[in-house]
Amino acid sequence: MDKLRAMITGIQGYVPEYRLTNKELEKLVETNDEWIVSRTGIKERRILKGEDQGSSVMGAEAVKGLLEKTGTDPLDVDLIICATVTPDMPFPATANIIADIVGAKKSYSFDIGAACSGFLYALQMGSQFIQTGTHKKVIIVGADKMSSIVNYQDRTTCILFGDGAGAVMLEPTTEDLGIMDAILRSDGSGAPYLHMKAGGSRRPATQQTLDANEHYAFQEGSTVFKFAVTNMADVSAEVMEKNNLTGDDIAWLVPHQANMRIINATANRMGIGPDKVMINIEKYGNTTAATLPLCLWDYESQLKKGDNLILAAFGGGFTWGSIFLKWGYDPK
Ligand code: UT7
Repeated sequence: MDKLRAMITGIQGYVPEYRLTNKELEKLVETNDEWIVSRTGIKERRILKGEDQGSSVMGAEAVKGLLEKTGTDPLDVDLIICATVTPDMPFPATANIIADIVGAKKSYSFDIGAACSGFLYALQMGSQFIQTGTHKKVIIVGADKMSSIVNYQDRTTCILFGDGAGAVMLEPTTEDLGIMDAILRSDGSGAPYLHMKAGGSRRPATQQTLDANEHYAFQEGSTVFKFAVTNMADVSAEVMEKNNLTGDDIAWLVPHQANMRIINATANRMGIGPDKVMINIEKYGNTTAATLPLCLWDYESQLKKGDNLILAAFGGGFTWGSIFLKWGYDPK
């Protein structure tokens, strides 16, 4: 029997309307547009406003658009995996809520938490469900409402993050296309450098944790930066070597959008020129699990069947990884 692979057959993103610009952040904290742009590459980010609006709202919008675009009946979806660090609530899973909103009544669904590498992890997991032959349509969603865990009085983090979601459809193919290889890694000893201190089972919410601002994302930026530069580049180079690929063979690098300097370092290490790197950090900032699908969505019209793509991410955990895939379709 021919080898089954999982292929992305559609992509859709969703970003909220509201744009939080660097100029506006200058009014909230001691910062300036020049510092933010030169140190990170970010000019603005999108923020989901309104009461009772969680990550599922954005995830569901992306999935609805994806179903429409791919002409998929929601009842034909087998599985929805949502990668998020900002679930609507600790339980049920945000994927359950998304599945209900979009009418995927015959699917099962669950969340995974791997921070900024969440989409990569979920993509590899979904790919393996397809490869077994038991699943025909798997949707992978990356959705994060980072504004819900960002302290807008902390200039070291509030300038970085934004809200957004992206979703891809995975389907089986016997062509030499789709997800070809993946290397995923994690190292929990990185937890002290990037985490949320309270709200989990170790430190449940109390007045004290609230007063101490422990329900916000905490990051020791320069430490995370060093690990991100080395690990994201190393793992991308490793996946290329393993598959006998050089920079010339790669059509696109799809990097996690945390910092323009990390993106450039990764591309350099891989021997990939700037014209082959997907970048949208300037308009969305770091949307955690949504950065990779939002990049694919923005660049979809430039992707051609058979293009070699390297997806790479690094984030809280630490978690990191790289996926090599061959794009499955020409622009429609
Ligand atoms: O997606 C998950 C993984 N996360 C990442 O990959 C993020 C990794 N880290 C980074 O991207 C960078 O470390 C940051 C963008 C967060 C910070 O950039 P940096 O070049 O590492 O700056 P730094 O933390 O070393 O700070 C340099 C200076 C400090 O002042 P002093 O001590 O030199 O006087 C900071 O207080 O910049 C100051 N600073 C700011 N100044 C103006 C920090 N934040 C700001 C700010 N505006 N927003």
